[in-house]
Order: sequence, then structure tokens, then C-alpha cells
Amino acid sequence: MASFDSSQVLVIFVLGGPGAGKGTQCGRLVEDYSFCHLSAGDLLRAEQAREGSEAGELIKSFIREGRIVPSYVTLNLLKNAMDDAITHRNTTRFLIDGFPRQMDQALSFDEHICNSRFVLYLNCPESTMEERLLKRSQTSGRDDDNVESIRKRFATFINTSMPVIEHYQKMDKVVQVDCTASVDDVYARVKEAVNKQIS
Ligand code: C5P
Ligand code: MG
Repeated sequence: MASFDSSQVLVIFVLGGPGAGKGTQCGRLVEDYSFCHLSAGDLLRAEQAREGSEAGELIKSFIREGRIVPSYVTLNLLKNAMDDAITHRNTTRFLIDGFPRQMDQALSFDEHICNSRFVLYLNCPESTMEERLLKRSQTSGRDDDNVESIRKRFATFINTSMPVIEHYQKMDKVVQVDCTASVDDVYARVKEAVNKQIS
């Protein structure tokens, strides 16, 4: 049994390689719709920084290496954040960004937390993503926005996260948007895709 009933709680997964623009596009969607945006990466970074966190050191090393943090950690953070949003922010519509990044996360979330409605896949060539990440590194302060970590994150995306997208493609749950264009142009397509799915 899942924790949340998918007829009452809407979950959209937002996937794409590092630097594809997941966070940016989710930010735009939040301005226009009553979505609660949960970024798995942001939740992990917050947990890493939380004083007394047992998983802090583990998260730090996995993020720097561009590896997927053990799923129980991320699933727990997401479940708690959803509980909190439903209870205190009276919301039932979620954009979950950067998750699932590994097959076990996909299977476990859909079965035990909430069956997702669809996947918004932001497709972007590696060269564009690298350019964006290097630009972001000037201001992000992120441990993993450096050439070495970026290369590892790309490898993890191809080897570990693409199979998740393929899994959902087989189920006909993926809407793909090309993300090479400007933020506004990409957003116009994202909005169109979302409207079509939730109408
Ligand atoms: O999505 P974002 O780029 O913020 O993720 C940063 C890092 O957080 C990933 O490279 C990975 O190390 C970790 N992460 C994870 N599992 C997820 C999402 C992010 O391990 N589902
Ligand atoms: Mg992000």
C-alpha cells in the first residue's frame, strides 16, 4: 500500500541531466500553478548541512563523487517533506525534481509512497549542460559544480538515471521537452506539456 492515494495526490517527476534546467523550470511552474516543488538534491544538501544529521558525511561524499545517495535516505526525506506539505501547507500537487535517479527509487516510490502521474523529461545535450553548470559554478557554491564532479555526474546520469526514464517510457508516462533553447522558450513548451497532462 502506498502512503498517499494517487487519486488525491498528484506527483510529477521532473528528470533530466545535471544542468538541464530542472530547478529553473520547476521555479517557473510554481509561479503559475499551485505545485509544491521538492528538489531531491536540495533536500539532500539541507540534510547534509543539518547539525546532528547522521547521514551528513555520507551525503557529502556521494554528492561530490556524483553518485546516487543510498535510496532510503532520499526516500525518507521526500516522504517527510510531502507529509509536511500536505499537513501544513494544504497542498496535494507535487513537482519532484531530480528523483527518481535510480531504478530502485522509481519502483519503491511508486509502490510505497505514491504512484506518479507522469515524468517531465528535460532533454539537453551534454555540451549545453556542461556550459550551464560551469557558469553556475561561479555563484552556486556547490561542491559538485566543478569539471571533475560534473564528468562523474554525467556518467551517473547515463548509466544509472537513463534506465529510469526508459522504464517510464515503456509505460508511456514520459513527456519529453527539448531544453536547448532559452528559459522562456523551454518554459512555453513545458507549460504546454503540463497543461495537456493535468487537464
Ligand atoms: O539534482 P541535483 O543536481 O541537485 O543533485 C545533486 C546530487 O545529489 C546528485 O549528483 C547526487 O549525488 C545527489 N542526488 C541523489 N539522488 C537523487 C537526487 C540527487 O543521490 N535522487
Ligand atoms: Mg536542481
